[in-house]
Amino acid sequence: MINCQRTLVLIKPDGVHRGLIGEIISRLENRGLKLVAMEFRHITKEFAEEHYAAHKGKPFFNGLVKYITAAPLVAMVWEGSDAIKAVRQTVGATNPTEAAPGTIRHDLSILTSRNLIHASDSVESAEAEIKHWFKEEDIFPWERDHEEWIT
Ligand code: PPS
Repeated sequence: MINCQRTLVLIKPDGVHRGLIGEIISRLENRGLKLVAMEFRHITKEFAEEHYAAHKGKPFFNGLVKYITAAPLVAMVWEGSDAIKAVRQTVGATNPTEAAPGTIRHDLSILTSRNLIHASDSVESAEAEIKHWFKEEDIFPWERDHEEWIT
């Protein structure tokens, strides 16, 4: 695999409530990415504040923490060639009305405050976020029979 990376993806509570878990996972699988960890979680305020620590003090911070802690979410680790960039591309821009057609946020959402999904934005944040959400033993890498056909 060329430039194999892992990235953290969250299907936020609105994605769970709207029954979009399967649709979102399909889009990432169809892209050729591999799911290597997945957990249903209802996180605390403290855990959410640590996840979004870089945004503490911004006007949307409290609303974002309230949104992400309101109900269960799906936390996942995806793996693949240039996975961080590839996932962000498939997810689309933060504001769904600015996201490109064909992206998850464009096709399935309309408000920044209900934009369905989170994906790590850099190698550093992917590493830190995966460590925050998952123990190494809860991540299960696996090989496809013909890995080279996709990656
Ligand atoms: S910034 O200020 O440019 O760094 O922020 P940005 O990268 O665009 O967004 C950081 C995360 O905050 C979420 N966000 C919001 N949530 C709720 N309401 C509003 N208005 C809002 N604006 C930004 C945004 O979706 C990012 O979270 P994730 O989970 O990564 O999508």
